[in-house]
Amino acid sequence: MTYYPISIQKIKQKVAKKKIFSQTGQIFDFKDLTNVKEITNKFGETLTRVDGEIPVDIDVSDGQRFLFISYDQSKYTHGIHKYPAKFFPELPRWLIKKYSKPNDLILDPFAGSATTNIEALLAKRNSVAIDIDPFARYLAKVKTTPIGKSELVTTVEEILKRLVEFNPKLINNSEIPDFPYRDNWFTKEMLLELTHIKKSIYSSTENVDIRDLCLISMSSVIRAVSNADDNCTRTVVRKRLNKEIYPSLALTKFAENLLMNSYRIIEFSQRLENGFTVEIPNDNDARYLTYPENYFDLAVTSPPYANAVDYPRTHQLEMYWLGIANGSLSKLKEQHVGTEVVKAADYKQLHRIGDLEADNKIEKIFKLDQRRAFIAYKYLYDMKLNMKEVYRTLKPGGRYVIVVGNNRIKGELFENWKYLMNISGSIGFIVENYFGSEIIKHFIKVPREERINTDWVIVLKK
Ligand SMILES: C[S@@+](CC[C@H](N)C(=O)[O-])C[C@H]1O[C@@H](n2cnc3c(N)ncnc32)[C@H](O)[C@@H]1O
Repeated sequence: MTYYPISIQKIKQKVAKKKIFSQTGQIFDFKDLTNVKEITNKFGETLTRVDGEIPVDIDVSDGQRFLFISYDQSKYTHGIHKYPAKFFPELPRWLIKKYSKPNDLILDPFAGSATTNIEALLAKRNSVAIDIDPFARYLAKVKTTPIGKSELVTTVEEILKRLVEFNPKLINNSEIPDFPYRDNWFTKEMLLELTHIKKSIYSSTENVDIRDLCLISMSSVIRAVSNADDNCTRTVVRKRLNKEIYPSLALTKFAENLLMNSYRIIEFSQRLENGFTVEIPNDNDARYLTYPENYFDLAVTSPPYANAVDYPRTHQLEMYWLGIANGSLSKLKEQHVGTEVVKAADYKQLHRIGDLEADNKIEKIFKLDQRRAFIAYKYLYDMKLNMKEVYRTLKPGGRYVIVVGNNRIKGELFENWKYLMNISGSIGFIVENYFGSEIIKHFIKVPREERINTDWVIVLKK
């Protein structure tokens, strides 16, 4: 096997440049409304464009459409690891400042990579992050846990030292993790390099928080060094892969990520004030919360869509390497709101959710595809369970802000936000406000027919 040695010095120089670049893009702290202006999009529609920080007291009328330009997607720990349908930080930051005060308790019942919780911490609020997915919880923990600089720097140096000592002959086959179709997903070289990375991390530290940060930095390179298509949320191998996998790729990318993520966590940790926490329970489901009545001051979330992203499949390789999963993912998939894992016995008949617009749409889909109609119905049913739970656990007067887009099911436009807004009334919520947020960028492409263009923000009040 050919093996190309890596230069830690060169990697450090490259990362230092990136670091400077990411810092200069971040200085947006508008005190007035000069970053807000009216524009017309290519369809002749009027939008309110906001660059960077969203002013807390900006006027918002029902149905107004915004184009928010985000500058903070990599700031602090937000830039650690990709995650599908991530919030841009300015949105939860604004909602938190607008609808809560310091020391309040905030809930995100579909927390994903914890964007809401990071912003809550930075704004001196405590928060709870619920996610059914163990990978999301792992990532959320890393992104919201501060780490002391000196121990981290020493550990990173130690890991980098071990990294360059890579010798494929010193890796035992039994040390390479075993999981379904492993040798289709990875070349032998990448299996050896990733195993060496994992070993280097474990032998360099016993500090669990530092180790988790390093393992997440390893996780961020897994997709790129696998035979899976980087540009698709689904983990798939393409016949003609448009990327080159060469020896030392995993080692180099990991070293870069580790250094970059260390800068991020240090910057984040230095910004935080003591005493604020993020709780990430591993026994909660957005539909069945174990928290008492009248407990949270505010809830902010972006829930999944029906039939859109298969989260367990998206992160399957990462979960195998992190030891979070080792075989079938179907049990996990079933628990996801928006799941496609449904039983034939359930979808033979038409189900109704009790909202005229939604039921008409489900009936249309039923005529085309009974299974898809049930997936759509079940999504709304599960979201209704979630809204009931959030209603129960919110303090009177508290808000539940939901950010959700539309999608297409069997070619039919499925207007999630409208249906959720209608259903929320039957639970007791009052719709205080709703507005659109145009989406101009996605980290990972979703299939064309499912592409989501506008997110709707609905503000519900208990
Ligand atoms: C759109 S993502 C949230 C992204 C998040 N706002 C962020 O910035 O990273 C939706 C999340 O809902 C989670 N989810 C799906 N079903 C769930 C359930 N039953 N309970 C809790 N979380 C669930 C998924 O695992 C996924 O992480």
